[in-house]
Amino acid sequence: MGQGHTLNNGLVIPAIGFGTWQILLNGKAKNAVAEALKAGYRLIDTAKIYGNEKGVGQAIRESGIPREEIFLTTKLWNSDQGYDSAIDAFDDSLARLGFSYIDLYLIHWPATERRHDAWRALQDIYKVGRAKAIGVSNYMVEHLEEVLGESEVVPAVNQIEFHPFVYRRQQPILAFCKAHNIVVEAYSPLARGSHLNHPSITEVAKKVGKSNAQVMLRWAIQHDTIPIPKSTNPDRIRENLAVFDFELAKEDMQRLNNL
Ligand code: A2P
Repeated sequence: MGQGHTLNNGLVIPAIGFGTWQILLNGKAKNAVAEALKAGYRLIDTAKIYGNEKGVGQAIRESGIPREEIFLTTKLWNSDQGYDSAIDAFDDSLARLGFSYIDLYLIHWPATERRHDAWRALQDIYKVGRAKAIGVSNYMVEHLEEVLGESEVVPAVNQIEFHPFVYRRQQPILAFCKAHNIVVEAYSPLARGSHLNHPSITEVAKKVGKSNAQVMLRWAIQHDTIPIPKSTNPDRIRENLAVFDFELAKEDMQRLNNL
């Protein structure tokens, strides 16, 4: 299932994850995460704002898979930025999930000036081991520079929208993260399903004998990012994991880069 990446603090994160954005109901998220864990996903991504932490936590517990074998991410919502409010929000997320620690806690968006105090809170949460790693999401180069300038702890991860149709816009962020040893997680790696049937993707898919979705995920993996596709359909949940037995040629990567 791929090699996984070693984060800048030594923690290993799986090479692909399961996203739960827009799987808004706890019950629905619980079923989807249960399917994902059964299929073999070990990285599960949620956020306070998705409103499904309770269902995600239940699915993990009921799976019977030891907690330490699962890499669980959740995120601090914008209105909780600030020091005390971030600590409180983290406690509440933990309580909803029903665990004693989170593998990765992210600031969801740069959003407000209180993100600086929030980052201090995340560092304290990290120092006592309640989050095994901390990072950010939707940070552009300027926000990352800010964090690097104000803190000893380099974010382990920046989670951004990443698929061929935003490549041009996101490429500078990807390059910056690579240069600073920040792993990029790719959310909406299937462009929310909207461009799956683009003729270029279809042509590459035919060439490698894989589905269009698998080609998009493979593209993200070959850019050294961790895609976190989401699906509520068990067949597609499994299909999205089968992306480690083929490779895209340089010219096909290039072709998708140019979409
Ligand atoms: P569904 O839940 O019915 O499978 P993204 O991860 O980029 O946000 O994309 C999610 C969207 O892509 C969802 O609408 C999901 O629908 C759809 N999707 C997920 N996996 C596949 C796949 N393998 N083939 C086609 N559509 C997919």
